Amino acid sequence: MIRVAFFDAKAYDKPSFEQYGSENGVEFKFFDTKLNEDTADLAKSSDAVCVFVNDTVNDRVIDRLYDNGVKMIALRCAGYNNVDVKHAYGRLHVVHVPAYSPYAVAEHAAALLLTSIRRIHKAYNRTREFNFSLNGLTGFDLHGKTAGIIGTGKIGRIFIDICRGFGMKVIAYDAYPAKDSGIEYVTLDELFERSDVISLHCPLTDDTRHMINSDAIAKMKKGVVILNTSRGALIDAEALLEGIKARKVGAACLDVYEEEADIFFEDRSGHILNDELLARLISMPNVIVTSHQAFLTEEALNNIAETTVNNIRSFFDKDGLCDNELCYRCGNIERCKKERKERCF
Ligand code: NAI
Repeated sequence: MIRVAFFDAKAYDKPSFEQYGSENGVEFKFFDTKLNEDTADLAKSSDAVCVFVNDTVNDRVIDRLYDNGVKMIALRCAGYNNVDVKHAYGRLHVVHVPAYSPYAVAEHAAALLLTSIRRIHKAYNRTREFNFSLNGLTGFDLHGKTAGIIGTGKIGRIFIDICRGFGMKVIAYDAYPAKDSGIEYVTLDELFERSDVISLHCPLTDDTRHMINSDAIAKMKKGVVILNTSRGALIDAEALLEGIKARKVGAACLDVYEEEADIFFEDRSGHILNDELLARLISMPNVIVTSHQAFLTEEALNNIAETTVNNIRSFFDKDGLCDNELCYRCGNIERCKKERKERCF
């Protein structure tokens, strides 16, 4: 039996992980707490840790896990910006779930967009109180508008299809444009200037951190709708708030937030929110915040559990090769992944 310490466990995680784990000889020990320096010792006597987006897997945590005999970090998500993969190299193997349901995230982005521009969130609250007034609910047609997509990977492309389904014109920016994809690629500046709706679908890296900042917002159309279902720190939230206050940004839909780690995923109603910036954003009539919910569909949860268990199983099986290993051997994680035919180290 492979023993795995599962951090930041939520009620919705357990059924699928318990099922796939017991079918495949992987025993999960669920901890509600997040992984960090203070909790790393909980993984003592475990073969692997299973972590999510807001667990802290920095150099100190990695050293602690390594000293405790842990051999693997199994991310149950795609993004790995919270893991120091470079430091893990030679110590702990890192695996992730590259795709579980890109549809879940793209469809959530679409849900946020429609909710926002057709004021569904306002109408829902009104009619529950038998307020049938339409004042202030005027929206706009998506048909004929321009969607600017940043990041044309799995999720970005599905969102492009959805936008096209609405009759939108689509332009895109990607650091690595997909050849022969039929996507009209433009520069980031041109995307900012031409888009009515901007949706972020690229990873968080040193290059993309705060890519939506005050300079970028200054280049955008007045009334632009900004969607972020990717990672919070792609947006400088202070600059976004200023853009909203200045009436430059028409609406913002945020499934992620830079400082979400200590806030999202928990019931904080009845508490005073210590994050002034988030509180101010949420108070805006044209901002919708969901708490990193875009992935949360039944299909995605099953795929996440199945792939994570397969990742762990294939690593601990005798040849130890796992297609979803994130390797820092050649200094470029994405390239390493494509070219590697053996264990990272
Ligand atoms: P992907 O790897 O298929 O696509 C990412 C795209 O971004 C690629 O085309 C890549 O070339 C591009 N890219 C890389 N660096 C860039 C840069 N500097 N500028 C512009 N584009 C760049 O990833 P996928 O599956 O489409 O996911 C996208 C992001 O969505 C993930 O990185 C993750 O942060 C986020 N995500 C959010 C979830 C949620 O629940 N809110 C769930 C799953 C993913």
